[in-house]
Amino acid sequence: MTEQFVIYNPVKLHFGKQVVKKIGKAASAFGNKALLVYGKGSVKRNGAYDDTVDSLQKAGIDVVEYQGIKPNPIVDDVDKAAELGRKEGVDMVVAVGGGSVLDSAKYIAVTIPASNSCWDYATGKIKPAKALPILGVLTLAATGSEMNPLGVVQHDKEKKKIGYGHPLMFPKHSFLDPSYTISVPENHTAYGIVDLISHALEGWFGEGDASLTDRFIISIINEALKYGPRLMADPENYELRAKIMYAATMALNGLTNQGKKTGDWGVHAIGHAMSVLWDIPHGASLSIAFPAWLTLQQNRIPDRIEELGYATFNTNTVDDTIREMKNFFREIGSPVSLAEAGVKAGEEEQENLLEVMRINKVDGYVHALTDEDYKLLIREMI
Ligand code: NZQ
Ligand code: ZN
Repeated sequence: MTEQFVIYNPVKLHFGKQVVKKIGKAASAFGNKALLVYGKGSVKRNGAYDDTVDSLQKAGIDVVEYQGIKPNPIVDDVDKAAELGRKEGVDMVVAVGGGSVLDSAKYIAVTIPASNSCWDYATGKIKPAKALPILGVLTLAATGSEMNPLGVVQHDKEKKKIGYGHPLMFPKHSFLDPSYTISVPENHTAYGIVDLISHALEGWFGEGDASLTDRFIISIINEALKYGPRLMADPENYELRAKIMYAATMALNGLTNQGKKTGDWGVHAIGHAMSVLWDIPHGASLSIAFPAWLTLQQNRIPDRIEELGYATFNTNTVDDTIREMKNFFREIGSPVSLAEAGVKAGEEEQENLLEVMRINKVDGYVHALTDEDYKLLIREMI
């Protein structure tokens, strides 16, 4: 434990059945007009939208809506929503949906009080000075966005997808009712499980000696390895939905980074490049990239990979660990190659991926990647 570290997480997290009934009361502390942001309509079918609007209205809060946030959210939507919020003079931003909606809400909240594009924040050109309060109703277990200050947004023309975080982007309140996640389709349920495991893994391959944090990481991965497949077999089971939702929140709320200098996050950067190019869902990009990245690292950090394998898959070798991880991802229904994700990666596609990896400077904070590494990774992923 040689690193200095700070633990700060101001999110009030409400977990369990019907917690969203409390959103109106919580929101009334911030004013009487909310910008409600959501995606392409799933929240209207699973009750999350009605329950949220009902509670807000009962608390006397006017609701202005921005709908249509797409998975792998884009700058255009965020900027348009911020413009609407500014024009309407809203007091807060309420997100109802998955990580894409919540991430968008975070950028919207810092963009409304300014007049620039959210991309200026994502690229680090300027730092947010103010933010509207953010409240989230999460309907998909995956990203951990509900309890962190991070947001990921994509700029299609620039071919970039960037993750950025600022303390002003912590939600004030997040409402997690696992019941809403019962309607998440099979593929996105699997991608969420992959995403949460990947967040823990990025911590595992980070820098800094923090043995207790390593145990948190292993516990989170083992929770997902045990209950993920059970959930895939029994998707309407509330208890299983709840276990996975809680694990996803804990995988990226600071817990898996405590005492460490940083996580690695190289695999996420590789995944983002795939999303930019082919709009591959985030979790699916990670189940393709993680085994490939481990293969690349097998002779560089064999002990760390072996230790991981021993603690999770009960394996003794690097090869077995990579094989078991691939099997797990594939068995729950997440692709482990571009081909399995439906991308026929011929020469031209591989060139394009290389270009986007270069543009996004796909690299880990700890395990740097060279141009040769990019090429090796691509060969492993096709
Ligand atoms: O658009 P709608 O109709 O809402 O449908 C969504 C979308 O098609 C659907 N969905 C969500 N909840 C549902 C549901 N369908 C049925 N029932 C429900 N209850 O699921 C699809 C995917 O939604 P999305 O929000 O894109 O998924 P996810 O939560 O995985 O978020 C992915 C985004 O988060 C970013 C990713 O890069 C990606 O852009 N990440 C954010 C992080 C963070 N803020 O900390 C960290 C992550 O590593 C990740 O990078
Ligand atoms: Zn992720």
